[in-house]
Amino acid sequence: MLKDEVLKELAAHRDSSLSGQVLAAKFGVSRNAVWKAIKALESEGVEIEAVTNKGYRLAANAWTAYDIEVPEGVSLFFYESIDSTNTQAKRLLAEGLCSDALVAAKEQTAGRGRCGRDFYSPKNTGIYFSYVFHPGQSLSDTVFVTTAAAVAVVRAIERISTLKPAIKWVNDIFIGNKKVCGILSEAVSDFESGRVESVIIGIGINVSTKEFPKELADTATGLYESGITEANLLNAVIKELIPLVQQPCREEILQEYKAHSLVLEKEITFIENGVSKRAKAIDIDETGGLVVMSEEGIRTLRSGEISIRLK
Ligand code: BTN
Repeated sequence: MLKDEVLKELAAHRDSSLSGQVLAAKFGVSRNAVWKAIKALESEGVEIEAVTNKGYRLAANAWTAYDIEVPEGVSLFFYESIDSTNTQAKRLLAEGLCSDALVAAKEQTAGRGRCGRDFYSPKNTGIYFSYVFHPGQSLSDTVFVTTAAAVAVVRAIERISTLKPAIKWVNDIFIGNKKVCGILSEAVSDFESGRVESVIIGIGINVSTKEFPKELADTATGLYESGITEANLLNAVIKELIPLVQQPCREEILQEYKAHSLVLEKEITFIENGVSKRAKAIDIDETGGLVVMSEEGIRTLRSGEISIRLK
């Protein structure tokens, strides 16, 4: 479609403006057709600046599907806005998607978090994406992917910045004492065999988000460091995530996870079935479970529906 060609051309010439005439000549169409393509892109939410006497260019912070680097064999689905990339991944699977895929969006209107919570996903200031793959394993083997995904996000942030991310069990990434990233992994299994057919790892990161709703204002933050852009962070996470979840080296992942843990050796409160309990976090086991010691003795918390608070 012409609008996709125009977008690709604008993405390839970020530092300069392209006139309607140049674009029209490039694609062998009229200037009016180019204008219509630009309007169609704008109506989808793509930020395009019209520079007098020079033409069109993408807004400085606008990123597009053409900025995302996915490895060969991974299909890319990119949306300016979608309800939830995890939900969209499920729809694509139901429609027959059988390749590995990355479903990414610049805004989610119904972003989902763990324990039935919402995930705040405002436009243009964060990255929201789901990686879909087909592990061909039993469910117990796939539970560990969330642990691996948390390590992938930490590695990516450290690779492109000097920030010091930490992991709050099970899968929240923190900078200082505020959350910057949440991860929601979901398995799609075959009803008959009980086998996990596909795993969806959904990751949401606040990048330049500055304003949060009242209920999140004290607990959420973004990655405010010059140099981090949505596209370069997304590419860095993809690079770390895919090899880590496809061929997880458990020992290495666990070691990094523990080294970045915000809860180990700390007194915590965990909420189980609505009941709040105190314990000390003493270890992460080989499946990613949190080993705690409380009045009731030593036990391992599984991610499920448990949420924890640092005391
Ligand atoms: C949490 O913090 O409880 C997990 C949040 C997970 C958010 C990501 S954003 C991309 C993907 N799509 C969703 O609807 N949720 C995940």
